[in-house]
Amino acid sequence: PAPGWSIEADVVVVGSGVAGLTAALRCAAAGRRTVVVTKARLDDGSTRWAQGGIAAALGDGDTPEQHLADTLVAGAGLCDEAAVRTLVTEGPDAVHRLIRTGARFDTAPDSDEIALTREGGHHRRRIAHAGGDATGAEISRALVEAVRAAGLRTIENALVLDLLTDAGGHTSGVTLHVMGEGQHDGVGAVRAPAVVLATGGMGQVFSATTNPAVSTGDGVALALRAGAEVSDLEFVQFHPTPLYLGPDAEGQQPLISEAVRGEGAHLVDADGTRFMVGQHELAELAPRDIVAKAIMRRAHEQGVEHMYLDGRHFGAQMWETRFPTILAACRSHGIDPVTEPIPVAPAAHYASGGVRTDLRGRTTVPGLYACGEVACTGVHGANRLASNSLLEGLVFAERIAADIAEGPAPACTTDPAPAPATDPAPASAPRTTLPLLAPETRTAVQRIMTAGAGVLRSAGSLARAAAELDRLHREATEASADTTHKSPEPGVEAWEATNLLCVARVLVAAAQRRTETRGCHWREDHPDRDDASWRRHFRITLDADRA
Ligand code: SIN
Repeated sequence: PAPGWSIEADVVVVGSGVAGLTAALRCAAAGRRTVVVTKARLDDGSTRWAQGGIAAALGDGDTPEQHLADTLVAGAGLCDEAAVRTLVTEGPDAVHRLIRTGARFDTAPDSDEIALTREGGHHRRRIAHAGGDATGAEISRALVEAVRAAGLRTIENALVLDLLTDAGGHTSGVTLHVMGEGQHDGVGAVRAPAVVLATGGMGQVFSATTNPAVSTGDGVALALRAGAEVSDLEFVQFHPTPLYLGPDAEGQQPLISEAVRGEGAHLVDADGTRFMVGQHELAELAPRDIVAKAIMRRAHEQGVEHMYLDGRHFGAQMWETRFPTILAACRSHGIDPVTEPIPVAPAAHYASGGVRTDLRGRTTVPGLYACGEVACTGVHGANRLASNSLLEGLVFAERIAADIAEGPAPACTTDPAPAPATDPAPASAPRTTLPLLAPETRTAVQRIMTAGAGVLRSAGSLARAAAELDRLHREATEASADTTHKSPEPGVEAWEATNLLCVARVLVAAAQRRTETRGCHWREDHPDRDDASWRRHFRITLDADRA
């Protein structure tokens, strides 16, 4: 739809999690007229839900080199080492700047040293946390307050629809649909030569996820429609230990942080036996893809739907002080972790891939940047290391702000990941530009993806998912061509459903192509890692004939 109103800025930041608000604050501090646009309220994204914390080499004896080594192992051969080195070396200072911005982290008893915990894949205590298990909520609070104090212009309840470009193909802003009362309402535009995508992830593409309802892949869908390259979408990370709420549980599931295992809780099977011991040198603290697979395997062997996390030995006081959020969530579902093991089963958690960027956060479209979960900077490879996501959001948002401060940005020209290999030319994804979908298509997409492209995948399950998604696409296309058909009302729910189908089809295409098991991509029919053929990234753009 044509924009009915328009405002001018130097930078528009889309999204208001740790990445978006950090980019916005730093751009504004550099004197750029900055507008933040967010789909719901400023604190409604995934950042607020982060529990465990933010990883950085902050502790005595820890070094960026050791953080690098753990990140590369978790990434299963597909991390871009230069990107990881940037993350781990700039990370500690970025955390200190976040503290100066107002975030308050937990400190060790009788000291002002930051308290550090462990999570899966980390050989050292290097996870800073806040409020016990409410790290994201504290970071979100501090950044939202800083944005308000700095007087930044924000537009809430605004779904960004598409990128605007000038005749030379350079970014010139975004169109957006603002829902609700306010100065701007309906479809409008923010015109700016730099757009920072920080829209978060796409967990809602699956039925059960730890992500909030707003995580619908909007940024990846927008970037694809704008002609940007995306990469590594097949690497969806399933968190091993969300609370299990039954086989038909849908939507956002309560997370039981890795930090609970970091503090010594054990995973046990239906017989009460610890099953991670002997499977990996780190046992319950193995990288999360390994733990998620072990949970699924043991559950299949025992013919059950879930395993248990046993932290009864913590005692009531530790549960209340160290994990108050998790304790309350479990009790609200009738489980008391102080007296009983917690039923847990993997659920979709994090998109390790996204819109491909270089080390300055530039995408392949000039003037379009991406940071946070929507981006594929190369730091996560085939499986993100626990608590590296908040850090990635911070570090790369700051790099984007520095790049924008330097002047007009061309697209990324250098390949961000010379080794491992990247496909020489981007592959085309199926046509995914769609007529607007009915909101109820969301549930259909989620069920198809959960059945065919979840933790366990095979050629057969992926082919069924691809065919079902194609059918939804075909039906929507036919319905829109039929003049007797009533089109869905334009609105956030219809656009979210449209974006979910777009990213689901690209994700399945990438998962079909990768005929190996690597990191969080688990192919039952190709159970081994195949470095000779597949130590490479797929770069994907939409078909050139897209509408
Ligand atoms: C958790 O607290 O287990 C989540 C940490 C993460 O996803 O990095």
